[in-house]
Amino acid sequence: MTASPLPLSATTTCPDTAPVFERLWHDHGPVAPVELEPGVRAWLVMGYEELKTLTGTPGLFSRDARDWRAVQDGTVPPDSPLGPMMSFRDSVTGYDGDAHRRLRRPLEDAVASIDHRRLRRTVEALCADLIAAFAGRGAADLVAEYAAAVPLLTIGDLIGLDPARSRELLDAMRALFGSGADAQDGNRRFEALLRERIRSCRDDPSDDLTGVLLAHRDLHTDAEVLQSIFVLASAGNHATISWIAQTLRLMLTDPRFAGRVRGGRLGIDDALDEVLSIAPPLSNMPARYALRDTELGGRTVRRGDALILGLAAVAHDSRAHAGTTFWQRGNRAHLAWSAGPHACPARDPARIIARTAVATALHALRNLRLTIDPADVAFEPSPWTRLPVRLPVAFETTLPEPAPPVPSRPPRRAPAATPTPPQTFGRP
Ligand code: HEM
Repeated sequence: MTASPLPLSATTTCPDTAPVFERLWHDHGPVAPVELEPGVRAWLVMGYEELKTLTGTPGLFSRDARDWRAVQDGTVPPDSPLGPMMSFRDSVTGYDGDAHRRLRRPLEDAVASIDHRRLRRTVEALCADLIAAFAGRGAADLVAEYAAAVPLLTIGDLIGLDPARSRELLDAMRALFGSGADAQDGNRRFEALLRERIRSCRDDPSDDLTGVLLAHRDLHTDAEVLQSIFVLASAGNHATISWIAQTLRLMLTDPRFAGRVRGGRLGIDDALDEVLSIAPPLSNMPARYALRDTELGGRTVRRGDALILGLAAVAHDSRAHAGTTFWQRGNRAHLAWSAGPHACPARDPARIIARTAVATALHALRNLRLTIDPADVAFEPSPWTRLPVRLPVAFETTLPEPAPPVPSRPPRRAPAATPTPPQTFGRP
């Protein structure tokens, strides 16, 4: 690797990503050295074919962070700020092969059990409540007061939490992933809420996601159920917040994009697809770890190296879209959902949440405009998502019709299970 690689966060916090990715491509080709933290290096895999190889060859590139040399030699300590995104979790995201397939099946079954019509109505009702809370002011921050709340409140409902508990879950999640002093406390509160939900679902079985996971024959302990819910909530929350916020940001700052949506030339689904291609919700995704010395994109990769999925950088792979505009209406040939055995299993519900949130805001907030200069939209200092810090807007309101109450699910029985092991970077 070169002497001083680019910090990965430079690809998410810059005002315009195109020159940054073009420079990386020019200097390094499809696999570029980057720095995750001072002194912690990784490869950013930006080529379409190289990303397919990385995600599709688990026998060579593992998903298990305990295979990371920087963890093994202590370069990345257990309390590293990289922990929330990169540490080993005893869940679907930590394993490959049979162990992964066993933990993934329940998630796929849980996702498949979601009633899409009910989900849309739930999201509509949540969005209407959030908008009602700020509508009277004629102004809001569409990140903090809207995009950041919709996904987890929805997931809270899907796992069977009441609105007050969903709010608590949202607060705990913010603390947990805020990397502040209350991160550990956030983690404790988050897990306590999920444990309580698992207990109550055992006493009073239900057909929500918790009920489906508790009843699933492939999950053997309460710890596995808890970790499965944790993955659904954390993976779903961040990516979907980012998808909603990116779409609203483009509506507010890119007249070409906004004009096509408002003029009806671009439907909301097409607009969401364009965002997946040009500004994917997860710009960079951790990670795979080389299980032996190998070669990727002309680079020598050493056993134990970390390789980051460059899901945004891949849009700049001229080999994959030579001579055409990368995004064309109807084209879903991006890698925003990743690929291979770990690819996102929740595309359909994620789209329903994002589509409903964006459509409801655009419908309810008339004459919506940004109240800061578009050039002043700053991004959170995360190397993983390009999330606007805030989107302050003014508008006139047409309050959405109050949504009819969403029918509750019928109760059902679930079998017994057992407690949870801790999460860590190192192998137990
Ligand atoms: C309801 C919302 C969502 C849920 C419940 C959800 C759930 C999950 C889960 C459980 C995984 C782990 C799968 C595995 O390791 O086998 C995952 C991975 C992933 N999800 Fe999602 N997700 C949601 C929304 C999104 C969105 C909006 C995006 C971005 C477009 C996204 C992109 C990804 C990516 C890139 C991965 C990683 C795949 C990899 O490591 O190769 N997800 N998601």
